[in-house]
Amino acid sequence: MANYLRRICHGLIFLIWGSALLIRAMPPPNPIQCSQTGCKLYNSYGVWGDRKDCPVQAVVYPTTEEELRSAVANANKNHLKVKVVSRFSHTIPKLACPTNQSRAILISTEKYNTSIDVDVPSMTVTADAGVGLRALIDRVEAEGLSLVAAPYWEGVSVGGVISTGAHGSSWRGRGGAVHDHVVGIRLIVPAKESEGFARILDLRSDDPLLNAAKVSLGMLGVISKVRLMVEGGFKRSITLNFTKDGGIEDEFMEHGKQYEFGDIQWYPSTHTAVYRYDHRLPINTSGDGVYDFVGFQSNSAIIPKSVRASEKSAEAARNADAKCLLASSFLAYKKLTANGLKNNLIFTGYPVIGHQAKMQTSGSCLYSPQAAKDAVCPWDPRIKGLFFYETTAIFSATNFADFIRDIKKLRDINPKSFCGVDIYNGFLIRFVPKSDAYLGQPEDSVVVDFNYYRADEGWTPRLNQDIWEEAEQMAFFKYGARPHWGKNRNVAFVGVEKKYPSFGKFVEAKRRVDPGNVFGSEWTDEIVFGRGVVDDDGCALEGRCVCSEDRHCSPGNGYYCTRGLVYTAARVCRYLSNSNLIELN
Ligand SMILES: Cc1cc2nc3c(=O)[nH]c(=O)nc-3n(C[C@H](O)[C@H](O)[C@H](O)COP(=O)(O)OP(=O)(O)OC[C@H]3O[C@@H](n4cnc5c(N)ncnc54)[C@H](O)[C@@H]3O)c2cc1C
Ligand SMILES: *[C@@H]1O[C@H](CO)[C@@H](O)[C@H](O)[C@H]1NC(C)=O
Ligand SMILES: *[C@@H]1O[C@H](CO)[C@@H](O)[C@H](O)[C@H]1NC(C)=O
Ligand SMILES: *[C@@H]1O[C@H](CO)[C@@H](O)[C@H](O)[C@H]1NC(C)=O
Ligand SMILES: *[C@@H]1O[C@H](CO)[C@@H](O)[C@H](O)[C@H]1NC(C)=O
Repeated sequence: MANYLRRICHGLIFLIWGSALLIRAMPPPNPIQCSQTGCKLYNSYGVWGDRKDCPVQAVVYPTTEEELRSAVANANKNHLKVKVVSRFSHTIPKLACPTNQSRAILISTEKYNTSIDVDVPSMTVTADAGVGLRALIDRVEAEGLSLVAAPYWEGVSVGGVISTGAHGSSWRGRGGAVHDHVVGIRLIVPAKESEGFARILDLRSDDPLLNAAKVSLGMLGVISKVRLMVEGGFKRSITLNFTKDGGIEDEFMEHGKQYEFGDIQWYPSTHTAVYRYDHRLPINTSGDGVYDFVGFQSNSAIIPKSVRASEKSAEAARNADAKCLLASSFLAYKKLTANGLKNNLIFTGYPVIGHQAKMQTSGSCLYSPQAAKDAVCPWDPRIKGLFFYETTAIFSATNFADFIRDIKKLRDINPKSFCGVDIYNGFLIRFVPKSDAYLGQPEDSVVVDFNYYRADEGWTPRLNQDIWEEAEQMAFFKYGARPHWGKNRNVAFVGVEKKYPSFGKFVEAKRRVDPGNVFGSEWTDEIVFGRGVVDDDGCALEGRCVCSEDRHCSPGNGYYCTRGLVYTAARVCRYLSNSNLIELN
């Protein structure tokens, strides 16, 4: 068995290697798919958190601000609800889905992406909301300037990225969250008939409404244009230190303070921490490196399909060792390839130095000539490749160390139970500072992402899922972490209103600019007001509830609702073999 798996892993690595050099990607599918029976909206994974479809009857594609305004005016006049989505639709919760399709329209910003206006004297850039992050960054750099903050994934729009509070990693200056660099927004909101049913608010930096609009989840109105601060062009120097994970809890704070763009990847199953030493350098430093993050490179479809098949067979056989072998092979591969850092065309050694535009964010799987039909982003829903949950919890910097200590205790009980998360990126630890945005972080914070296997069917229980549920409940309930608005399962949002001191101000602003709730939907309410939990059979499997009875898990498959191992207030679905059950009784 082990030999067989080892061969698969080596085969995979060989394929990954080959493909990175030879093949270009087929771009992700359009999120709006139409057929004879109508149109549906999808996210980039092809599946919403609740697995329900999002049918849409009317979709409009404005190309100018006036068309955008008249789309809102028409909808308001006809008592239709409005939602906005970008060309990318990379948000996991169903925030962009309009309510009751026959009474709503969807505005796509796909074709509203022409204007990018760099103003060198004021060090700002103003872009149409549909502009892609890569186009924006390249324009800014062409003027000798740099956009400081961006998420690590570049396949997002200007409007979308600020709307969910997306971020990279930095505690310095304005920090790692894109919305904290916003100094102006043109927002289209519903208006009275005498005002033409829709009006444009030109929000500047001294306007308190800007603090509501910066991170507004599409609930306030349509963002037409975003104005961002930029800085003089600079380069970055990145070194990755693959080392032991002892003392992360004592070192993360210093690491976040010392390196402007530092982060830490933590792989608990192998006791490995990867410290990213990352700081800025003057633009005239030599170096033309890129960070083409390995997880966002294009793959021949066969690789993600094989990884998925290996994960599924490990799941079916309840074989944690198989997962551990995959996890350690991927980690070895990442170490060898420096996670996708390249000094030139390949990685030759640390530090890798390159332009900010090439080091902060990546997504080479997004681009393609039409030719190579076989190459895709690893999660492309058309190929049934990787399919996973993304839990992202945002902690107060002051209680994060205790969370790490708890996870270490959980890991030490059974290190192999963490292999499932280490197949992905382990725990990715990033830093974002206090924000003025009402739905931004109210204090200096530490963000943790972890991804883990999601089954094809919602009712299929997963190997060691109790561990992820315990980690999730620990983060959000024991330590009161705030959920990233653009990721997570519904349980993460329970009680979220109480976690943002300015939540009331956001709701107040919404009432003021959109009193008729034109931009509301039940899907948004589920997330923002934490109303997405249900009480049906199997609901805990997909994070639609915390279990309180066995039927919320999968007793037929041996998964029962039990206590957490370290956080005993947690209620998780755990596999209990017959012998355990006898002990329990
Ligand atoms: C592979 C991958 C990697 C990721 N990496 C990171 C990361 O490193 N850091 C991070 O923080 N996040 C990350 N994310 C999450 C992602 O950055 C956010 O979900 C982001 O909001 C997606 O932007 P989008 O343009 O696709 O927005 P969409 O998904 O299209 O929309 C997001 C929300 O904004 C609203 N919206 C969009 N445009 C407008 C507009 N013009 N006016 C009003 N409302 C609007 C929508 O209604 C919706 O509520 C990642 C996601 C994926 C899939
Ligand atoms: C959706 O709107 C239609 C038309 O107004 C209405 O008949 C129907 O009841 C609505 N459905 C829901 C679920 O609100
Ligand atoms: C706008 O979108 C089109 C098609 O999606 C793309 O070809 C073009 O490069 C984009 N323009 C900008 C400025 O991003
Ligand atoms: C890597 O990190 C460890 C732990 O922080 C440290 O002891 C070691 O000196 C670092 N190595 C390098 C090359 O920086
Ligand atoms: C970079 O430019 C600064 C002045 O702008 C100069 O002092 C320095 O020597 C230059 N460094 C290199 C490596 O060229």
